[in-house]
Amino acid sequence: MKRKRDRIISGFSKLLKEEKLKLVAEYFENPGEVVSLLKSFWHSDEEKQKLFDEFSENTLTNFVIPYGVAPNVMINGQTYLVPMVIEESSVVAAASAASKFWSERGGFRSEVVDTKKVGQVHFSWSGRAAVLHGLMPELRQHLMSAVKHITANMEKRGGGVLDIELKDFTREIEHYFQLLVTFETKDSMGANFINSVLEEFAQALKVFMANRLELPDEQRQVEIIMSILSNYTPECLVRTWVECPLSQLDNVDETLSGEAFARKFEKAVRIAQVDVYRATTHNKGIYNGIDAVAIATGNDFRAIEAAGHAFASRDGQYRSLSRVEIEDGMFRFILEVPMAVGTVGGLTSLHPLAKYSLDMLGNPSARELMMIASAMGLANNWSAVRSLTTKGIQAGHMKMHLFNILNHFKATDEEKASAAEYFKDQKVSFAGVAQYLTSIRK
Ligand code: MEV
Repeated sequence: MKRKRDRIISGFSKLLKEEKLKLVAEYFENPGEVVSLLKSFWHSDEEKQKLFDEFSENTLTNFVIPYGVAPNVMINGQTYLVPMVIEESSVVAAASAASKFWSERGGFRSEVVDTKKVGQVHFSWSGRAAVLHGLMPELRQHLMSAVKHITANMEKRGGGVLDIELKDFTREIEHYFQLLVTFETKDSMGANFINSVLEEFAQALKVFMANRLELPDEQRQVEIIMSILSNYTPECLVRTWVECPLSQLDNVDETLSGEAFARKFEKAVRIAQVDVYRATTHNKGIYNGIDAVAIATGNDFRAIEAAGHAFASRDGQYRSLSRVEIEDGMFRFILEVPMAVGTVGGLTSLHPLAKYSLDMLGNPSARELMMIASAMGLANNWSAVRSLTTKGIQAGHMKMHLFNILNHFKATDEEKASAAEYFKDQKVSFAGVAQYLTSIRK
């Protein structure tokens, strides 16, 4: 019998994996089938499966997403094979087509603007801001020596705490101050390092203030609200662009000269700079490429996206992350995005495929990975806006989607081959594919 879904389950995490599976399956009409379906996605190598199980809590099985590769990605003269993990059918195709196109026009150019990361200790204190400001030079020294045991290794690698700034928010929230800390974390994403340092800072701040015997009692107390890194990293920034003479865009569309195409393309990008509805979709297309690389290399795509969307709103309006310049007969398409990524530590070294992805990229530094991921963002943005301003997006999308529709109708390999041939020069639609299958199945 199907279990009612309004039951509270206690102690679920303590059950064995098999018990969890069984319990979950009871919520379905066909528990036996559910258990075998979920088990069919278990890794055949028990060691590997155990590793995946331990990445998260309450793991039942694995959720498989295609792992593809974009070839011909030329960045600053070096060519990469870029691994991409994504479920959307057209993303790898878009990245590959754009990379090939631009590899014939000098490739992507990229530069890391800066690599600073940020964290905050949020606290309440009841004195005047000027007093705290006055204590800052001494407090800084005290805090830095309190974290020596955590920062020593990072400092050996050229990273560490760069600066500690006091921020006064008492106008917005009574007694609320913040230590805004900047970090350099070299090739690691650095989340654990940053959070450990911040929590240690918080304790050291309390001790420091408790020992300020010259202050009245209540001002010797600090209430720590929280200590956490910020995912807004406008100073961990990469700039990536492509450029060519307008004449080299002559064949992009048979009805438009290179210059006419470039002007139309530029207008489409400008629309995403002034209109939030378009900007959101435009930037989503950029993150199609960036996220796929982030996932393939074991990086935190939510952090990367959160920073990007906040950065896109930095002047108060959400805008396109990319822009076009047309000057002196040259077309230039530029993407500037914050990108906090790592190539050591975390999932990058634990997930066997993330490790392999980094190998495929030649074991890049974090700076190099910032350039690679942003190039795939720009590549996807180029392909999307190129299609949108010429033949429209659906032609390419639906061609890529054809196999999904065929799988939906459980088409055989033979039917798939015949449909692929038939739809080569036909418009693909769900209804059209259904009709075609009915006709050949008769
Ligand atoms: C689809 O995943 C992404 C696009 O909508 C992006 C865009 O409109 O620029 C095609």
